[in-house]
Amino acid sequence: MRSEPAAAAPALLASSRLRSLELRNRIWLAPMCQYMVEAEDGVPTDWHLVHLGARATGGFGLLITEATAVSPEGRISPRDTGLWNDQQVQAWRRITGFCQQQGAPVAVQLAHAGRKASTWPALPRFRQRRGTVPEFASGWRTVGPTADPFPGLDAPDALSREQIRLVVEDFVAAAGRAEQAGFDALELHFAHGYLVHEFLSPLVNSRTDEYGGDGPGRRRLALEIASAVRERWPAESPLIVRISATDWIDGGWDIEQSVELARDLERVGVDALHVSTGGAVIADIAVGPEYQVGFARTLRDAVSMPVSAVGLITDPAGAQAVLDRGDADFVAVGRAALREPAWPQRAAHELGVRDASLYPGAYQRGSW
Ligand SMILES: Cc1cc2nc3c(=O)[nH]c(=O)nc-3n(C[C@H](O)[C@H](O)[C@H](O)COP(=O)(O)O)c2cc1C
Repeated sequence: MRSEPAAAAPALLASSRLRSLELRNRIWLAPMCQYMVEAEDGVPTDWHLVHLGARATGGFGLLITEATAVSPEGRISPRDTGLWNDQQVQAWRRITGFCQQQGAPVAVQLAHAGRKASTWPALPRFRQRRGTVPEFASGWRTVGPTADPFPGLDAPDALSREQIRLVVEDFVAAAGRAEQAGFDALELHFAHGYLVHEFLSPLVNSRTDEYGGDGPGRRRLALEIASAVRERWPAESPLIVRISATDWIDGGWDIEQSVELARDLERVGVDALHVSTGGAVIADIAVGPEYQVGFARTLRDAVSMPVSAVGLITDPAGAQAVLDRGDADFVAVGRAALREPAWPQRAAHELGVRDASLYPGAYQRGSW
């Protein structure tokens, strides 16, 4: 049974659309690494089915997977998921199918971790570990725009132009597998100091060839990947890009450069922007409630594609206010959804919306 929210439903709970994809509301599950691929083969496990499945039954409008690597060396840690082979496609298929049955479309976040790859899983049992995972402990040599390391990690190998071409191909091949795996949407991870952000940031990218230097040079890899993936990814399916809007350091990547990037991305057919910040260099970030929403607003004012805000958006009334002010078109919820998989159901209750579509039939009797 599906009952539509009343016409005057708050925007947070109103159905929406991304390209031809219908979303039951405007609440996204933020991508969150789980470090739960114990076999270290990139194949998602029962954990991922339960993690995403619980949030599908919890009423999210769109689920975004954790950073899923386009190649083994693109993983943040040995325990990340991937999408570089058919075994991974089959395992993801089971997960996308289950979530879709619960009314939650799924986006895969495709990623390459660049010079911040091969790190220890951020789990309590690895807390004492520092630096790059060595090769004898299932780590690998990392790559970046130059051989300069991220502080505390091993120096990467600088990518040659030929190797850059292969990275773009890896993204395209993973997009093809994402289609086979049944994903509804695709998010490119260009944020948080991973490979593409490393090319964008003037604090990291000191290349002197066409992939470095001025703004267009530093943006080149991002645009090559976005346009090549757009060509491969089904025309009716949404392509989202997650960026860091600022490095939080003078002389670094900033909101003005993000606006230029966003306009370029829109031009090559990107459908939505997901606005985070930071990660390329060590910086003081003034973290607090809704601390990144202002960046989403600036970008939303500069482009016509929809924008999602993320970052300590934890309470439903606050999330609704973000939309009401026109700061963003969608909100993504991360950590709050770790402790509360059915966050959207509570949000609907608190905002006075009765929406049976947020509950699987078997859970209706437990409705708020
Ligand atoms: C455990 C954990 C894992 C994360 N993994 C990813 C990731 O794979 N990709 C990504 O873009 N962001 C990742 N993030 C960042 C979140 O998507 C989100 O932007 C951030 O947590 C701020 O939102 P929140 O305050 O609602 O948690 C992760 C955050 C957490 C807490």
